[in-house]
Amino acid sequence: MSKTMIGVIGGSGVYEIDGLKDAAWQTVETPWGAPSDQILTGTLEGVSIAFLPRHGRGHTHSPSTIPYSANIDALKRLGVTDVISVSACGSFRHEMAPGDFVIVDQYIDRTFAREKSFFGAGCVAHVSVAHPTCPRLSAACADAARASGVTVHDGGTYLAMEGPQFSTLAESRLYREVWGCDVIGMTGMPEAKLAREAELCYASVAMITDYDSWHPDHGEVDVTQIIATLTGNADKGRNMVRRLPALLGTDRAPCPHGCDRALDFAVLTAPG
Ligand code: ADE
Repeated sequence: MSKTMIGVIGGSGVYEIDGLKDAAWQTVETPWGAPSDQILTGTLEGVSIAFLPRHGRGHTHSPSTIPYSANIDALKRLGVTDVISVSACGSFRHEMAPGDFVIVDQYIDRTFAREKSFFGAGCVAHVSVAHPTCPRLSAACADAARASGVTVHDGGTYLAMEGPQFSTLAESRLYREVWGCDVIGMTGMPEAKLAREAELCYASVAMITDYDSWHPDHGEVDVTQIIATLTGNADKGRNMVRRLPALLGTDRAPCPHGCDRALDFAVLTAPG
């Protein structure tokens, strides 16, 4: 049986964790270039864990310039089995309020200026992303967040936009009223697709920071508002992560949903 290694991709709020043993920032090189930053590794409750600051510690990568392939590959090279994506998101639902967490289970990918696959040059593969997140890992995140006192919504459709500008009012209404999306962010794709291609379990935790621009009782979204909500809620993300090792355990059985075997029937190119 293999060992669990948790990989967390997120902002500073989630990796400044008390009780992380053998903590060390590691430089990882990949054939896809350098990841967003060094990766903080250590153990929490006896389970290996790795934290990757998605935008870099100085917030130097915009959503369009994040090296998504290098990030996923670097985590895989370190031995990560389970990737948890924590990100700030806008909400399209009254009941999904700032401070709540939404456990994302579907995406509409409207990004257009990013590399989205490890495959293409000399090796063609088509993985299924019909169910882009891992139900087992998502349930663990939901349980961990609830146990930390967070209001958690199970399931939600994430509209991935290119950015860096926020949506127009017309776009916000389209995503909410016509397309039935629940949350909006700029980084969930292609992260989820690449994690599937890398045969990693992936769960996405949307930390709601605002109501985008559709809500008649709330003003337009701005960065100050997002940072204020995130700062106020940083402990929620940390507390969720702290509970994950106990929920996931040190020994790792094959994923019951097949995330770790996604390429079994996906590669088209014959071995050279
Ligand atoms: N991140 C946080 N809030 C957002 C919003 N309203 N739109 C896109 N990305 C976001």
